[in-house]
Amino acid sequence: MNDSLISFVNSGIENLQPYEPGRSIEEVVADYNPEKIVKLASNENPLGPSPKAKKILESLNESLSLYPSSDATSLKTKIAKFESVNNNQIIIGNGSNEVLELAARAFLNNSSSAVMSKHAFAVYKILTQACGSKVIEVPMINWTHNLQQFNDYCEDKTRIIFVANPNNPTGTFNSHSDFRDMMLEIPQSILVVLDLAYYEYVEAEDYIRTNELLDEFDNILITKTFSKIQGLASLRIGYGIGSKELCSVINKIRQPFNVNQLAQLAAIEAIDDIDHIKQSRDLNSIERDRMMAALESVGMECIKSQGNFISFKGDFNSEEMFLSLMKLGVIVRPIDNYEMLGYLRMTIGTPEENDYFFNHFKKLL
Ligand SMILES: Cc1ncc(COP(=O)(O)O)c(C=O)c1O
Repeated sequence: MNDSLISFVNSGIENLQPYEPGRSIEEVVADYNPEKIVKLASNENPLGPSPKAKKILESLNESLSLYPSSDATSLKTKIAKFESVNNNQIIIGNGSNEVLELAARAFLNNSSSAVMSKHAFAVYKILTQACGSKVIEVPMINWTHNLQQFNDYCEDKTRIIFVANPNNPTGTFNSHSDFRDMMLEIPQSILVVLDLAYYEYVEAEDYIRTNELLDEFDNILITKTFSKIQGLASLRIGYGIGSKELCSVINKIRQPFNVNQLAQLAAIEAIDDIDHIKQSRDLNSIERDRMMAALESVGMECIKSQGNFISFKGDFNSEEMFLSLMKLGVIVRPIDNYEMLGYLRMTIGTPEENDYFFNHFKKLL
């Protein structure tokens, strides 16, 4: 490509820090070839996918040559029932990231701004900058979104507020009433994207009641994913729920066939596989408490998490610790890129995976 073309790249992209994914198992094998690998870097489900979803995947061989349902009609019907909304209030995405991206593309441009917390999920900043829009960051309080302040940070040109609840990478959550108070304060002309990727893991009281928010506010888009508790991260599927008008606008820029058929079928099975969801939630709850206590017992400062991960820091260099653990086959995540210097984030794995991590970690301290 010649230089003159590159000089026309949308403003914002030049200084954009691209998303840094966790190291993959393949990469770690290629670099270090450890005896065993425990991947605790990307907040996946250690129990894997719903067994019901796995079964349906096996039956698909015959129709691989056909395009998927462009509108994901059957899946939408299932989600609509599950979420007690209408089909036309749903957008299906190639991961919930795609829904976030569609919302950003629909509303952000170089004469707008988007508001989010400092230390919020990295994708919000990337999308905002990619649309040429200004990023406005609100400082957190105790690693938690300071929702009371959000309205003060909004400008006339603010078009989107992004809130992950619980937030990644802090794991902290905001109550339904705090969120609703923010909704009441901000102008209706701002779209609030409420990202509930870790919704099912939350045990705190007064957590978000999605239907009440959808009934009361038209300027809200709630996103959920099948990548976390449903354990379908590799299939890339998620969804957004909002008003009929909002979904109709955002759906206009969705590519046809954006979600493959395997993902649609697996999601239909996984969404109400209550046994798998309960088992995953229970495992996470017990192991999250156990790992938090273990980390604290060796002097770590942990951020109390409602998600399937814990961010913590201690008397170590996070980049060095990350590399030392990786050489031993344990993949966690340094989160310096979130301006959380010295912190590591571990995903809650199976008891055996967590022990493997912790036993190595202790020795490296
Ligand atoms: C807060 C948050 N939102 C969205 C996503 C993206 O999920 P998906 O796999 O559905 O694109 C993640 C993934 O880690 C996340 O942490």
